[in-house]
Amino acid sequence: MSVLRWTARACVLGYLAWGMGFALADTPADLLAHYKAEAQGQPAGDAGRGQVFFNKTHGNEWKCASCHGAVPTGKGEHAMTHKVIEPMAPAFNAQRFTDLAKSEKWFRRNCKDVLARECTAAEKADVLAWLLSLK
Ligand code: HEC
Repeated sequence: MSVLRWTARACVLGYLAWGMGFALADTPADLLAHYKAEAQGQPAGDAGRGQVFFNKTHGNEWKCASCHGAVPTGKGEHAMTHKVIEPMAPAFNAQRFTDLAKSEKWFRRNCKDVLARECTAAEKADVLAWLLSLK
């Protein structure tokens, strides 16, 4: 087998392994990398900006903190239904940000409530970077 073909084969296997790992078990770091890549060179993944974003209103009545708490290392409470929401920071809740589809679904829904639009990839990366910094 030529070196070229061998290299091509190794690349394909590498991609497959990466793809499967990504589908089976995302980590919060995977998701952060995903959103940073999606931001396409815009500044993204700034924890300080994420904290400000999370704790201010964006034209509507609610902020992210209204349901998740100002520092979401503990449980939050839904502003309407008063249902308990488990902590958002991955260090305090191992299930957080381990499923891209789930995180996307909630980002979509919650951002529409708070900003009346979807969050940008850069905004998601900022929030996630801040949540990851909470220990
Ligand atoms: C009206 C209440 C409410 C507001 C406001 C709110 N959320 Fe949520 N959020 C929820 C609920 C309910 C869930 C789903 C229950 C759960 O995952 O514990 C959730 C889940 C999430 C998740 C899923 C995390 C995961 O497990 O992957 C993300 C991300 C999220 N919210 C981000 C935000 C952001 C960012 C904002 C501000 C733009 C925000 N939320 C504002 C109620 C809210």
